[in-house]
Amino acid sequence: MAAPAHAAQAATGQAQTYGNYIGGEWRPAASGETFEDRSPANTDDLVGRFASSAKEDVEAAVAAAAEAADGWRRTSAVARANILHKAAEILASRQEQVGRELTREEGKTLKEGIGETGRAVQILRYFAGEAQQPSGEHYPSMNPLTLLYTVREPLGVVGVITPWNFPIAIPAWKIAPALAFGNTVVFKPASLTPLCAVRLVEALAEAGLPPGVLNLVTGSAGAVGDPLVRDPRIAGVTFTGSNAVGADLRKIAAETGTKLQLELGGKNPAIVLADADLDHALTHVVSGAMMSTGQKCTATSRAIVDRSIAAAFTERLVEKVKALKVGDPLQAETQIGPVISEDSAERIAGEVDAAREAGANLLAGGDRPSENGHGRGHFVAPTLFGDVDPASKLGQEELFGPVLGVIPVDGMDEALAVANTVRFGLSASLFTRDLGKALTFAREIQAGVVHVNSETPGAEPHVPFGGMKGSSSYSREQGKAARDFFTQTKTVYIDPPPA
Ligand code: UN1
Repeated sequence: MAAPAHAAQAATGQAQTYGNYIGGEWRPAASGETFEDRSPANTDDLVGRFASSAKEDVEAAVAAAAEAADGWRRTSAVARANILHKAAEILASRQEQVGRELTREEGKTLKEGIGETGRAVQILRYFAGEAQQPSGEHYPSMNPLTLLYTVREPLGVVGVITPWNFPIAIPAWKIAPALAFGNTVVFKPASLTPLCAVRLVEALAEAGLPPGVLNLVTGSAGAVGDPLVRDPRIAGVTFTGSNAVGADLRKIAAETGTKLQLELGGKNPAIVLADADLDHALTHVVSGAMMSTGQKCTATSRAIVDRSIAAAFTERLVEKVKALKVGDPLQAETQIGPVISEDSAERIAGEVDAAREAGANLLAGGDRPSENGHGRGHFVAPTLFGDVDPASKLGQEELFGPVLGVIPVDGMDEALAVANTVRFGLSASLFTRDLGKALTFAREIQAGVVHVNSETPGAEPHVPFGGMKGSSSYSREQGKAARDFFTQTKTVYIDPPPA
């Protein structure tokens, strides 16, 4: 396959150098600087070099997006939809290749990498359809002759800042609705996963997006993200990532007046009641906690288990967690890949040690295995703690790694009380056969996404996604909810001229 037009073959090795995409052109950072993207499974594997951008690159991208805004706003929704459809088909034709690159760059298993790429395709298709849905309402007026209606108009230029843990699905679920509803975009992906960002932008560019409608600027949060969110031409910023960065963004948005959407952390509970199908609950608790090496904001990190079954359930959890195959995510038999970076691995290992010192009962994992031939991957063993104090740091704070704590409780009321003690409220699961308890749970749990008899992660593109309490800014992504963030309402009164 021919190398993409923008990707100059680097002088050294096989790794390519990828530029920013600004005003319809692939170009290096103004400084000419690049940074390296290495596989978390093996840091000898150089995935690529990417533009190390700064304020002037951001300014060029925002200027291109601002210039393209009127043209794109006036483009028919049907024409916008057609481009998204075409981008979906282009990405679908590359699903296997892009999925493999995702795995190499991010470290989740190949099945997950290819699956996530398919999810991005599905999201593009969904928003192609959504672009053509009604964009306002007609109202009766006090004056019977007045035509009174609302119309949802784009915000203008939006900044899209995405995390590394879903390096193609989350960019798709922010960029697709932004474009579908007529905004132009400056996209700053996580600097740990820029190749997936390039692949998504390539698909959209090849599908025929006019120059300037979507711009990609790679680089660090400080050098790229900061000037982006402070730029007065940016009307909205959508961000998925940590609560710490979210808190900074809130302060900046309070000064600039930018519309802000935040999707932040979680400390998601899975409650297992005594009447649950325990085989089913075990499978879903382990996969909810450990797939993608626990690096989902929706991952299960607390198994809140009825005391009458806690010992037996925990024993089986230990077996299952110990049996998980950690290793090279490109190998078909691997179930758990590395975590994203050495910093992340050290931070998680440090938290695990601190929890042990604070008296938590380590039942599985807790160490840092070296899992590939080179010994150069950021691996953390799937880790299980028993008898976790719900008020402890381990019971309260997000670790963003393959760490699960079991909290025994006496019955449904205590389970709900414990589940709701944390500052987060993203997703939650209940395992039971009792319909009454399922209904109580759905009513009382403080979470934006609620599952009964299925794991805490997962988000279908056509329904709202987002958290309560500290997990979001009270807005929702995906589904019909996406239109709320990416548009603003205009109310129009049209009276006939006096006869
Ligand atoms: C999922 O559960 O499949 O960053 C999606 C995250 C969430 C998305 C989760 N915003 O993990």
